Amino acid sequence: MIIESIELKNYRNYQELHMEFNQGTNILYGDNAQGKTNILEAVYVCCTSKSHKSAKDRDIIRFDQDESHIKLQVRKNNVPYRLDMHLKKNKPKGIAINGIPIRKASELFGIVNVIFFLLRI
Ligand SMILES: Nc1ncnc2c1ncn2[C@@H]1O[C@H](COP(=O)(O)OP(=O)(O)O)[C@@H](O)[C@H]1O
Ligand SMILES: [Mg+2]
Repeated sequence: MIIESIELKNYRNYQELHMEFNQGTNILYGDNAQGKTNILEAVYVCCTSKSHKSAKDRDIIRFDQDESHIKLQVRKNNVPYRLDMHLKKNKPKGIAINGIPIRKASELFGIVNVIFFLLRI
């Protein structure tokens, strides 16, 4: 299973981001507060519908915006999946798999196997 790319719109400090990943191991590096952990959080949110920080959707949405989008392009057993998440300030989030809206977030489980390790020092 590989995550091929991520697109963010009004997600935390990102107004727009389009990032393609390498098929191997990817390392995100940069200065403090550049948004590295925010990208990992967005992957986790898009795969599980919740943040590891258990933040509310309105905390994730970029300051002064009303909504936020995450798109993840995934390949599993050579089958492509597109996950779309639409976070709204005062309404439940919308989630779609390959363009088809899902009703229960649990329908996401099993598509991307994601484990989040966080070390606070
Ligand atoms: N809802 C938000 N809107 C805009 N910026 C945000 C939001 N939430 C967090 N940030 C910004 O994200 C930055 C921290 O990003 P983070 O991914 O933790 O950085 P890194 O992991 O690279 O040190 C901070 O500058 C913070 O102000
Ligand atoms: Mg960080």
